[in-house]
Amino acid sequence: MSTANAAKSGTFKVGGNVEVHRLGFGAMRITGPGIWGEPQDRAEALRTLRRLPDLGVNFIDTADSYGPDVSEELIHEALAPYKNIFVATKAGLTRTGPQIWTPLGRPDYLIQQAYKSRRRLGVEKIGLWQLHRIDSTVPQGEQFGAIKQLLNDGVIAHAGLSEVSVADIEAASKVFKVATVQNRYNLVDRGSEDVLDYCEKHGIGFIPWYPLAAGDLAKPGSLLDTIAKRHKAAPSQIALAWVLKRSKVMLPIPGTSKVQHLEENVAAADIVLSDEEFASLDREGKAAYAKAA
Ligand SMILES: NC(=O)c1ccc[n+]([C@@H]2O[C@H](COP(=O)([O-])OP(=O)(O)OC[C@H]3O[C@@H](n4cnc5c(N)ncnc54)[C@H](OP(=O)(O)O)[C@@H]3O)[C@@H](O)[C@H]2O)c1
Repeated sequence: MSTANAAKSGTFKVGGNVEVHRLGFGAMRITGPGIWGEPQDRAEALRTLRRLPDLGVNFIDTADSYGPDVSEELIHEALAPYKNIFVATKAGLTRTGPQIWTPLGRPDYLIQQAYKSRRRLGVEKIGLWQLHRIDSTVPQGEQFGAIKQLLNDGVIAHAGLSEVSVADIEAASKVFKVATVQNRYNLVDRGSEDVLDYCEKHGIGFIPWYPLAAGDLAKPGSLLDTIAKRHKAAPSQIALAWVLKRSKVMLPIPGTSKVQHLEENVAAADIVLSDEEFASLDREGKAAYAKAA
């Protein structure tokens, strides 16, 4: 039995008042191929979710579009009434087939989806609701206004954004308090450094998605591989430990449909990289990102 515990990753207060362990769980992978329909192994997906509290994971990220509906329904089935577990969800992308994600930011649609997520999750109020994408065909102010209304009406407690720029966060902040930002970020995907720095400065939680990736840096004989061997860890665990050390506002949500992978990911919270290891990985990650760009 694993002794890993997400508590070792430290804590962050979402919106300044809800404390979670920084290492969370992404619930996109507990669905079928193409993030469509039921997972291939439903029993294992439920076991994975039910293992979260034992491993100290108390922050889960999902979305109405994962399945669609399936991820929220499985979370409800496995974990309601959510003793000490904080569930964040999202809306703003429609699904018309596997791997098809189309932004839809009409205010009435966003509001409808938040009500439906609340029912599917079986909560009185959604702890954190995030706008999955800003829809470029709908005025930003209307989308932010819908979020303000959801906050005012008590449907959601906190609100966040996903795949946004600093300018987007500043525009949204004029309408509602931005509690979190969820952008793709990992050791070798550094396109959101400015957004991360902004979040750190303003106490906004930064939720990096795809946090396990290390690209070619994980090749046998590489610096990452050498550091992984030194720590008796997998390269993906070192990539996660690096992300966690990068900032105190970092809330990574590695996703898996398997208990064994979940345990491995949570064990990354035990890994303490030295400042030198962190800095050398940082340099290599930035160089790999610049080369790929
Ligand atoms: N805001 C957005 O636009 C957005 C976009 C994408 C994702 N997200 C969120 O971010 C979360 C994480 O993103 P992600 O799922 O793309 O990336 P990720 O968590 O970095 O990687 C997940 C992939 O790695 C595999 N995996 C996980 N743990 C592993 C381990 N220990 N060993 C080997 N393979 C492992 C998973 O497959 P197995 O199931 O086989 O373990 C899955 O294929 C999602 O769950 C979702 O909540 C948000």
